[in-house]
Amino acid sequence: MAGIVVLGAGGRAGRAVTAEARRRGLTVTAAVRDPERYAGLGAPGVTVVRGDVLDRRSVEDVAGGHIAAVQAVSPFSGPEQGFATLDPAFFVKAADALLDGLADARVRRLVAVGLFANLLGPDGRPVMDDPTAFPPEIRPFALAHTAGLARLRKAGNGDVDWVMLTPGGGLEADGPRTGRHRFGDERMPDGIPGLSYADLAAAVLDEIEKPTLHRTRVSVYGPRRKEKEKAQENAKAT
Ligand SMILES: NC(=O)c1ccc[n+]([C@@H]2O[C@H](COP(=O)([O-])OP(=O)(O)OC[C@H]3O[C@@H](n4cnc5c(N)ncnc54)[C@H](OP(=O)(O)O)[C@@H]3O)[C@@H](O)[C@H]2O)c1
Repeated sequence: MAGIVVLGAGGRAGRAVTAEARRRGLTVTAAVRDPERYAGLGAPGVTVVRGDVLDRRSVEDVAGGHIAAVQAVSPFSGPEQGFATLDPAFFVKAADALLDGLADARVRRLVAVGLFANLLGPDGRPVMDDPTAFPPEIRPFALAHTAGLARLRKAGNGDVDWVMLTPGGGLEADGPRTGRHRFGDERMPDGIPGLSYADLAAAVLDEIEKPTLHRTRVSVYGPRRKEKEKAQENAKAT
């Protein structure tokens, strides 16, 4: 089986997806904007290339010959960076470049990582519309993400079979890989612990190897606390 291409491979989600793909024996083309900054990413089965998710031709070039693409890109790594330079159309441009570039490269599967802000809260409003649940200063980023999701949805039954997996809570950078995750719907899961990047990556790879979700967005969330503790104990024991 040919491998996958990961856009944003140098980021937290991108690295976790790359590691999970290698764990499953898939080769990875790791697309980053500046390969010189990411020399350490290269490894057996991982080829680092230059790739820009905002550029349709670049997407086509890096994606050709792969079974699927993963969109793990973000223009900001955290609120501490501020959003003064955010392009509100960033994720729309990324969606356009991906849909067009992947179609031209004849890559039919796209798995994208979403943002919990546009899941629906208990009152039925998007979480980002509730200032008690979502910091208003991050709202521009949430709106940009949401516009990108809308652009994917607008693609309807286009050539690319996309799915957006939206973490239903926090994403834990150093959380364990439990190998367990669940998919929900548009609603924010209630009282469910966050997800580790490693478990998010497993969900991404599941949807590449055995796709069950098509042209839709779902929430993805982690195991309940007891399951997680058990997985952590098992990991320590091995
Ligand atoms: N709880 C949640 O819902 C939650 C939590 C965290 C993240 N997320 C989402 O998950 C996704 C991945 O986030 P992350 O935490 O992995 O982010 P991250 O660690 O900040 O990594 C993002 C990567 O995107 C790359 N990038 C930026 N612009 C690019 C472009 N034009 N073309 C190609 N690559 C580009 C960056 O590379 P450079 O080094 O070139 O800048 C960086 O390596 C994002 O959509 C984010 O919003 C959701």
